[in-house]
Amino acid sequence: MKLSMKTFDLCEKAFEENIDFIIFGATGDLAHKKLFPDLYNLAKDAKFSERIRIIAVGRKDFTKDEFLSTFNEFIPEEDRISFFSRIEYFKADFSNLDEMKLLADYLGKNCNSRIFYLAVPPAFYSIIAENLGKVKLNYGCSKHNAFSRIVIEKPFGIDLKSSLELNKTILSVFHEDQVYRIDHYLGKEPVENIFAFRFSNNIFENIWNNKFIDSIQVIATEDIGIEKRGAFYDSTGTLIDVFQNHIIQMISILTMEKPTRFQESFIRTNKTNLIKQLTVSSVVKGQYAGYHDEPNVAPDSIIDTFIAAKLVLQSPKFKGVPIYVKAGKMLSEKKTQIVVIFKPTIRSIFEGDFSSNMLSFQIHPSFNIGLNFAGKVPGFDYTITNMKMNYSYDNYYGELKSEYEKLLIDCILGNQMNFARTDEINASWKITDTIKDKIKNITPIIYPQGSTGPTEAETIIKSDGRSWIYI
Ligand code: BG6
Repeated sequence: MKLSMKTFDLCEKAFEENIDFIIFGATGDLAHKKLFPDLYNLAKDAKFSERIRIIAVGRKDFTKDEFLSTFNEFIPEEDRISFFSRIEYFKADFSNLDEMKLLADYLGKNCNSRIFYLAVPPAFYSIIAENLGKVKLNYGCSKHNAFSRIVIEKPFGIDLKSSLELNKTILSVFHEDQVYRIDHYLGKEPVENIFAFRFSNNIFENIWNNKFIDSIQVIATEDIGIEKRGAFYDSTGTLIDVFQNHIIQMISILTMEKPTRFQESFIRTNKTNLIKQLTVSSVVKGQYAGYHDEPNVAPDSIIDTFIAAKLVLQSPKFKGVPIYVKAGKMLSEKKTQIVVIFKPTIRSIFEGDFSSNMLSFQIHPSFNIGLNFAGKVPGFDYTITNMKMNYSYDNYYGELKSEYEKLLIDCILGNQMNFARTDEINASWKITDTIKDKIKNITPIIYPQGSTGPTEAETIIKSDGRSWIYI
């Protein structure tokens, strides 16, 4: 197999390096529920050499032991001593330059490579980046071949304007190849596999265009509400929370042009070019009943907890192919899937009620790739019916790595393929802003909890003579 991307061999080599993993916001939820458990898993799988240190930076006045004790529910007792031995707690207010200088002195005692992970509210991204620049932690060490990288969580801004400003600040301190904007969907195996599937199977790539594809559907519904994230969600909504990032990313991988090479710059360029050609035709905005009773949301909030949209691509290959999107909270089920619906057979010689071919990628609740086709029912007559081939990851692989584990490894390796570049982010904000402007003053349609969303989401697709397909 030919692989030009950095792969496991290099991965092993990367682990020979001394790396300081510095987590800002180490006392927060994301660090506790995601980062530390995933770092622990990596350490446990021996994917993390002894030469990787974790420096937890937080504002709380903890001793190291007090800080570590907050992980008791996440890290099994028998592994705590060895995992905890690589963690240091450094108390610092990252918006205070003097305290960042102390951090720089502390880290400067060696020339390790550094990965700064911003697990903090987005409002702090700029100040942290600026301060890292002022204390020169944005530089690696050429003598020791050590790098400095910054990892930034979503949302990256709240619109194009704020994202441009944020990028300006960050890129005045770090170079683009030091910046890792995380979107955990890009670390999901089935999402990576959309790319692999498309570009390693000639039979599909040749029919991947508007001559053969009728329409595309992307569904990302959730059965949970906003949980304890009222303050965050009330200013973002579904559009910014999942459409601007996860959904656009999935669409871009699904419909991008084939990159010249399997290299991050080619891939990211083609994704960006694709996103730039997305336009919106219609949108439905919904909000679940009872949303106003959630803590920390405005009593008269008109934020979206549900979005359905019809997008249209202007790229020559896909011009005219509608992409129907549906995403939201507090719906009947958690489902993430993509379905590519092919055009029906022209002048079919068979009669009967069988559907067009469909290729599906299911991401939740399980990882599957399916192909719906028509075939003959066994018997004396010639009845055609719908049949399905299904590839389920469960049948072939054990438990898959979490998205964060994969992305953390990518970051250590310096592989930016699964992280959004500045132009990619800008393009996705542009289309998101168009939708945002369309719906900002619209009162959302209230839908019952546990339902499939507003009935208007049916109309958006039914008026084109199609319907939502659940695989
Ligand atoms: C996050 C959103 O990015 O993605 C959450 O902030 C959402 O609101 C989550 O629930 C969905 O991710 P997944 O992996 O569970 O589909």
